[in-house]
Amino acid sequence: MSIEKEKKEVNSLREQIRRADYQYYVLSEPEISDKEYDTLIDKLKKLEKQYPQLIRPDSPTQRVSGGLLEGFPTVKHKVKMLSLDNTYSIDELKDWEQKIKRMLKRDVKIDYVVEPKIDGVSCSLAYENGTLTIGSTRGDGQTGEEITANIKTIKSIPLKLSGDVPSLLEVRGEIYIDKKDFEQLNKDRIKENEASFANPRNAASGSLKLLDPSVVARRNLNCYVHSFGWVKGYEFKMHSKFLEMIKSWGLRTDPHSKLCKDLKEAIDYCLHWQDKREKFSYEVDGMVVKVNSLNLQKELGSTLKSPRWAVAYKFPAHQATTKVKKIDFGVGRTGIITPVALLEPVECGGVTISRATLHNFDEVRRLGIKEGDTILIERAGEVIPKVVKVITTKRTGKEKKISIPKKCPVCGGQVTKEKEDEVYWYCIDPDCPAQLKRSLMHFASRKALDIEGMGESLVDELVDRGLVKSISDIYSLSNEKLLKLPLFKEKKANNVILAIQESKTSSLSRFLYGLGIKHVGEKAAFVLADRFKNIDAFFKLKKEDLEEIAEIGPIMAESVIKFFSSPKTKILIDRLSKSGCIMREEKRQLKKTPLSGKVFIFTGELSSFTRSQAQRVVQDKGGQWTSAISKNIDFVVAGQNPGSKYDKAKKIGLNIIDEAEFKKLIGK
Ligand code: IVH
Repeated sequence: MSIEKEKKEVNSLREQIRRADYQYYVLSEPEISDKEYDTLIDKLKKLEKQYPQLIRPDSPTQRVSGGLLEGFPTVKHKVKMLSLDNTYSIDELKDWEQKIKRMLKRDVKIDYVVEPKIDGVSCSLAYENGTLTIGSTRGDGQTGEEITANIKTIKSIPLKLSGDVPSLLEVRGEIYIDKKDFEQLNKDRIKENEASFANPRNAASGSLKLLDPSVVARRNLNCYVHSFGWVKGYEFKMHSKFLEMIKSWGLRTDPHSKLCKDLKEAIDYCLHWQDKREKFSYEVDGMVVKVNSLNLQKELGSTLKSPRWAVAYKFPAHQATTKVKKIDFGVGRTGIITPVALLEPVECGGVTISRATLHNFDEVRRLGIKEGDTILIERAGEVIPKVVKVITTKRTGKEKKISIPKKCPVCGGQVTKEKEDEVYWYCIDPDCPAQLKRSLMHFASRKALDIEGMGESLVDELVDRGLVKSISDIYSLSNEKLLKLPLFKEKKANNVILAIQESKTSSLSRFLYGLGIKHVGEKAAFVLADRFKNIDAFFKLKKEDLEEIAEIGPIMAESVIKFFSSPKTKILIDRLSKSGCIMREEKRQLKKTPLSGKVFIFTGELSSFTRSQAQRVVQDKGGQWTSAISKNIDFVVAGQNPGSKYDKAKKIGLNIIDEAEFKKLIGK
């Protein structure tokens, strides 16, 4: 049977999608609505499903590969990935120009391209005959890690270039996460009791190292291409033309790049952005000044570390001095004690800073910080301020040394290090209220037992009033007990109790994740549950049983064995079991339903479900739900008094349905 017609249609759909991606991501001028875009994708997906022989790795449907990666092989860069020399003042920039003019042994007029220096993660993208073949990290400059599967999830990186492209092209760029997406990501992580990222750069590099491309795809990573390594089949003469050319082929370049006719114009442009650096939607820590002519670049060459034809002009960091009022200690879910400096509030780069984490006691020792000290803090574009140093000349002799607390600052329990060479100190009392609160928050969090309404304030009340002394105690809570708490009304109490009761039938993987076993994340919990099916099996496990599972490394294996050999765990699981928690992995639903693979978002109140009930139905029927509006959503379910999500959904043309339509969809 000839499938020429289908092949043509598939090609035409791919072309239309590529064009739409280009308009949206590279030019920021979308030509079609999100709905039209989704229709194109759906049509293509359907055809590829029907005719799998037509699937190509550079098809827009192939951005997220299925399954987990096993690790990242190394790749040697054909042309070394250099870094840039830094300058910190305009005088240093002028000296740099003098130096290169001396090297060129003549007084040529040099024009420059000035670009933002994005504080992200550098990457290399190799295209063969226009198709993306390898994406890698910089690594040590000679050898990087091959992260193609993760790179492919970034929508602004084309899988296929268009136009008259060189046969081989390797470009370099910066992968970053927008400041607002970074903040949202951290908010979500804190809610889920996961460690937040210190800055957008760490968030981007952490995301690129994930072994699950489908998680990377949700991180809103972005990329600007700024240079090249090797090219075959094309010759560039000017850096400015290189940028124009690659943009026409589909690669995304920073629109803030500017061709400057001389150094004076380049300096003015650097200073212009120095004053407006906050206006960038991503972190920029300076500007890069590049000689425009590639002939001159060749003549100037490079040192071992960096090219002579480019230099970074670093913006001065936002710094301020202030006094340490007190050192406070926080206790995390795993019992880690974190020293935090409480500061006299000070303005730093437009933000008032009144606390700074000191991370651990090694850092306290390294800084030599004392209570009462005057310190220099810095927000080098980073969201979390860091303590740079103690200004020892300001000492009066009244400063107080900080010592590691002998007892837990919250429960008075014993404090210890797990291993001699570890930098963290822990409270090892499992009944520590601070730990219990955090454990409970984690247990109830969205990715764990997903108990809606069990937020920080309720957990605080329950633990502080002694109503909950162990996680399992939540299952003995009643409406009456909750109604005694301030601000608790009948409906709210009912909903929380209902959500608690419902959680008993949650999957084993959610329980495993919710128990907060050190090193066991959501994915590992899933793998473990899928393998062992029943919580009781974990008490009989030997290390060898775990070691044969590819996704479970030795550290995690040790942690799981340790957790289940503790008598406290046995007591907890017995209690959970007696309360009616099932903790068994049922066979996953493989049957296709109208919800399979569809993404839902809920806004407003539903009359026949609580929000979490509705979300669970979606999940059980093979769909997914999210709380963040985006164009990837298939159904917006709008109840009574919908919120701002509804307006946004309308604006971007999403498919909005009411409760009755939702019920029909789920077969109720
Ligand atoms: S050009 C050999 N342009 O800064 C120089 N780099 O400190 C090639 N970076 O590893 C790089 N923005 O990842 C260039 N507009 C820009 C950049 C940029 C950020 C990064 C790049 C490099 C690092 C050097």
